[in-house]
Amino acid sequence: MASLRPTHRAFSLISSMTLTQQRSIVSAYTIAKRFKSTTQGLKERLSEIIPEKQAEVKAVKQELGKKSLGEVTVDMAYGGMRGIKGMIWEGSVLDPEEGIRFRNLTIPDCQKMLPKAEGGQEPLPEGLFWLLVTGEVPTKEQVQLLSSEWAARATIPSFVEELIDRCPNTLHPMSQFSLAVTALQHDSQFAKAYQSGIPKTQYWEYVYEDSMDLIAKLPNIAGRIYRNVYKDGKLPAINPNLDYSANLAQLLGFGDKQDFVELMRLYLTIHSDHEGGNVSAHATHLVGSALSDPYLSFSAGLNGLAGPLHGLANQEVLRWTMKMRDELGSAEASDEAIKDYVWKTLKSGQVVPGYGHAVLRKTDPRYTCQREFALKHLPTDPMFKLVSQLYNIVPGILTEQGKTKNPWPNVDAHSGVLLQHYGLVEQDFYTVLFGVSRGLGVLSQLIWDRALGLPLERPKSLSTEHVKKMFANKN
Ligand SMILES: CC(C)(COP(=O)(O)OP(=O)(O)OC[C@H]1O[C@@H](n2cnc3c(N)ncnc32)[C@H](O)[C@@H]1OP(=O)(O)O)[C@@H](O)C(=O)NCCC(=O)NCCS
Repeated sequence: MASLRPTHRAFSLISSMTLTQQRSIVSAYTIAKRFKSTTQGLKERLSEIIPEKQAEVKAVKQELGKKSLGEVTVDMAYGGMRGIKGMIWEGSVLDPEEGIRFRNLTIPDCQKMLPKAEGGQEPLPEGLFWLLVTGEVPTKEQVQLLSSEWAARATIPSFVEELIDRCPNTLHPMSQFSLAVTALQHDSQFAKAYQSGIPKTQYWEYVYEDSMDLIAKLPNIAGRIYRNVYKDGKLPAINPNLDYSANLAQLLGFGDKQDFVELMRLYLTIHSDHEGGNVSAHATHLVGSALSDPYLSFSAGLNGLAGPLHGLANQEVLRWTMKMRDELGSAEASDEAIKDYVWKTLKSGQVVPGYGHAVLRKTDPRYTCQREFALKHLPTDPMFKLVSQLYNIVPGILTEQGKTKNPWPNVDAHSGVLLQHYGLVEQDFYTVLFGVSRGLGVLSQLIWDRALGLPLERPKSLSTEHVKKMFANKN
């Protein structure tokens, strides 16, 4: 294994090769690393990997530091910075055509390669987190260790429980979620260690501890909000023998439905990470760059996830689809009636929720795997049939309208219909589940942000006047 580590000499050799040769070496190295069989704990393994990665990044900066990643146009500055390559994100990369790869693995790869629960068929999100953090596929034992560790760290302080209990039911579940995560900051190990003057080289260890604590506590927070707002407020205790998703399902009151537990495993895996530029990831990373602790950083990410153009779209999709069903009188509406409804939405100046994407230009593989789940577990659900009908109709209409760069469905177009099938019908809550999953992705990167010593983020901004002056008399 040691001979596969990238040394400076190896880097010079690699840089003289063609891109395809470089790719096959990198993937051989990654695959060799992935199959390292061990029962080590995550922090132990991470502390072995970090020096290797630090050396790799140092070599990349030395050799490629002055290379250009691309040009920035005025349109890009006004256009939400689309396409500007200006951030490092280790866990995942999004290809516009292919969709997401987590540490170079596609969603079907993850479904095949990541450990599963006894009798389960979907990957365990614990395994995905391990993969995001280390770049390695964990063993079953490593994943079980993680399940137990998260269960052991799951208790939330009583003042945070009270804070959630005191929220009015009319406060949106995402606001309650963000409030509770911010309040957990009270016990941040990173914030305390920073105050005590720890050296920079130790930052990642405390960010790791906070991230593990925070991820572990998310099901308890989500469950409490759900039970308070929609049920009788009573919550079962975390079961140390269950995996993370089974515990979440239990807390929500759906633990006895095995297919729902499987859905949670898939759901939490696929919503975790979508590279670094999306609002929730970028917000977490940006706030973390000020050395705000993981609680403050992730709560910023959650506030971004709560926007209707981002995570909140999943609540909007089901609401819009149900409104359409009610207006058309049945879930078995004709194609013509659905087309009219979609056009009506567009003509009234609204977006069709669940369709389009800032980066993707094809059907989102996160949509596809949820569709496959539905075909397997709920093929005759009337709402699923309606969502399938929309899949056949909406892309054609959006193409005909000619505005959106991507007429295909995204992850949010499908998640709600699966949740409602099992009885989780409260749409306002859906983004909270998205948030639980997003924690896995953004917090794994936050650990790396500190391990790599990434600095305060501070891009340059310009005023319109400045832009005009820059190009005056330069036609
Ligand atoms: C995701 C989204 C915000 C991406 O925005 P974007 O990168 O600006 O997308 P585009 O470049 O394709 O937008 C170009 C135009 O098409 C429109 N458009 C994009 N998706 C659309 C949709 N689903 N329905 C109607 N119009 C849409 C945009 O509003 C924009 O219109 P404008 O020129 O009048 O401002 C956008 O597709 C959207 O609003 N989708 C619906 C909400 C959603 O599903 N969000 C979850 C994303 S995972």
